[in-house]
Amino acid sequence: MNKLIVSLLLTLGITGVAHAAGDATAGQAKAAVCGACHGPDGNSPAPNFPKLAGQGERYLTKQLHDIKDGKRTVLEMTGLLTNLNDQDLADLAAYFASQKGSVGAADPKLVARGEKLFRGGDLDKGLPACTGCHSPNGAGNAAAGFPHLSGQHATYIAKQLTDFRKEEAGRANDGDAMTMRTIARKLSDEDIAAISSYIQGLH
Ligand code: HEC
Ligand code: HEC
Repeated sequence: MNKLIVSLLLTLGITGVAHAAGDATAGQAKAAVCGACHGPDGNSPAPNFPKLAGQGERYLTKQLHDIKDGKRTVLEMTGLLTNLNDQDLADLAAYFASQKGSVGAADPKLVARGEKLFRGGDLDKGLPACTGCHSPNGAGNAAAGFPHLSGQHATYIAKQLTDFRKEEAGRANDGDAMTMRTIARKLSDEDIAAISSYIQGLH
């Protein structure tokens, strides 16, 4: 066979391996260090540490790359991903995606406002309903990379919406994040508190 074709095939083969799907079993073995903050099964007990259990694999993989590459600032995870390769990140994402997410409770006083915004948006402000991308029960759209929100800690959700709203956000500066920035800028502090509480109790 022609040498050029052989090297081309090898290159394609290597590319194929680099994009291989994650292996949840291999990921579990690599997740021990993550459990201290995110919980061994990804159901973090602390309100500022996000739950990862049941989150979409594609979304998790993107966030891990963003955090590793410094596009998303997570000071608590500084240096933690430096020595992990693409396969490690894919395995970790597959492991946490395969776990069952736990549910919290919403503040009854905030439910009505939170539900109205989440399901209907706000026509006057040009705010789209969150359900359009994150689905009516907050499960998200794993294939499209739209994150699962339901049951997530309200404290964590409120911080993300506030980060998206800032000019210098802690989140990556790409198309996906731009969508959320445009949306978050239309939310007041009261809107964010109500939506975040509603999401925590959603299932
Ligand atoms: C010392 C605590 C700590 C450890 C250990 C840690 N994380 Fe995190 N992680 C955080 C915090 C805090 C955030 C959220 C930061 C923010 O508010 O944006 C986060 C965010 C994330 C996110 C984004 C979640 C989302 O919904 O967007 C992923 C994915 C993640 N961590 C995966 C991991 C993995 C995998 C490991 C182990 C290799 C790990 N983390 C270890 C504290 C930690
Ligand atoms: C057009 C689609 C779309 C709509 C509508 C939308 N989102 Fe999002 N949302 C996304 C995408 C895509 C991301 C992932 C951004 C990234 O990669 O950083 C995201 C991320 C988020 C996150 C971060 C999740 C995490 O685990 O860190 C929160 C919170 C969120 N959205 C809340 C909302 C709320 C509340 C609404 C309604 C007011 C809403 N979104 C409407 C597409 C959408």
